[in-house]
Amino acid sequence: MASTLSLIFLTLTPLLLFSHHQTLAQKAPAPSSGPANLTGILTKGGQYTTFLRLLSETQVGNQIDNQLNSSTEGLTVLAPTDNAFNNLKAGTLNGLSRQDQVNLILYHVLPKYYTLDNFQTVSNPVRTQFSDDGLNFTSQGHQLNVSTGLVETQINNALWAEFPLAVYQSDAVLLPPSLFGAKSPASAPPPEKSSSTTPADSGDKNKTKEAAAPSENSTGDSSKRNVGLGLVAGLLVVCMGVLS
Ligand SMILES: *[C@@H]1O[C@H](CO)[C@@H](O)[C@H](O)[C@H]1NC(C)=O
Ligand SMILES: *[C@@H]1O[C@H](CO)[C@@H](O)[C@H](O)[C@H]1NC(C)=O
Ligand SMILES: *[C@@H]1O[C@H](CO)[C@@H](O)[C@H](O)[C@H]1NC(C)=O
Ligand SMILES: *[C@@H]1O[C@H](CO)[C@@H](O)[C@H](O)[C@H]1NC(C)=O
Ligand SMILES: *[C@@H]1O[C@H](CO)[C@@H](O)[C@H](O)[C@H]1NC(C)=O
Ligand SMILES: *[C@@H]1O[C@H](CO)[C@@H](O)[C@H](O)[C@H]1NC(C)=O
Repeated sequence: MASTLSLIFLTLTPLLLFSHHQTLAQKAPAPSSGPANLTGILTKGGQYTTFLRLLSETQVGNQIDNQLNSSTEGLTVLAPTDNAFNNLKAGTLNGLSRQDQVNLILYHVLPKYYTLDNFQTVSNPVRTQFSDDGLNFTSQGHQLNVSTGLVETQINNALWAEFPLAVYQSDAVLLPPSLFGAKSPASAPPPEKSSSTTPADSGDKNKTKEAAAPSENSTGDSSKRNVGLGLVAGLLVVCMGVLS
């Protein structure tokens, strides 16, 4: 009898230690009460107001609720914190069309339920709800990273992990390369046939983008503009002098 008990104890101890390690410094997922509810989980998490707003504005939140009800595979959500959104370059979200905001949010949703352990052996790239781009997961010991090719961050805090829904904290907004990768030489599409394209063309292509998110080094430009304004004003004064 005693040996059976100690056997059970010995079997359970590593499991307990392991799960303790995994959930260290995090609120244990609340015991299941009612159906998994992404909004409720994120609200309770307390640092996901931007993500919650986007889920609601893009209707992806509703889509997830419906999918949870019908999916046999479950879903996994990598939820960026408010800090993660604050760390984005100014204008990043507003620079996206409505459809691309939807795509950005869908990129954080995986059409399958994954535990943290599942990620350690998953084969890359992992499909997301944004069909254009996948995510790569790499691990070393208990450290698990997710990478988009543009952004890499650690995943270790489970807000919820109970089939059919898993929700993990992401300390970065995962930027899909097909929306944000234009500037990366590695993923940039090959240039069009150079027959008729002039350098001026390619230079002009992304003026809109730069205008939407001005760089901090615009002093040079604006001082040039000021010189231009000064010249115009000077000419006006001269003209008025001539006229009067
Ligand atoms: C989700 O949870 C929130 C807060 O816990 C609750 O207000 C809401 O009614 C729940 N929704 C569903 C569909 O269960
Ligand atoms: C889930 O789907 C069933 C049937 O498709 C429906 O009766 C039920 O109301 C749905 N539940 C939720 C929470 O949407
Ligand atoms: C995870 O990413 C960090 C940088 O964010 C890096 O230092 C670390 O080596 C990566 N770990 C793995 C297992 O890829
Ligand atoms: C993701 O993993 C696949 C397969 O291992 C690899 O071909 C691809 O280059 C990786 N992409 C990134 C962005 O790391
Ligand atoms: C320029 O930016 C737009 C979006 O603002 C993007 O669709 C386009 O692919 C980009 N082109 C280049 C050459 O970077
Ligand atoms: C902005 O200008 C400063 C000083 O001229 C320079 O050190 C810095 O690298 C520039 N940053 C960018 C993004 O061009």
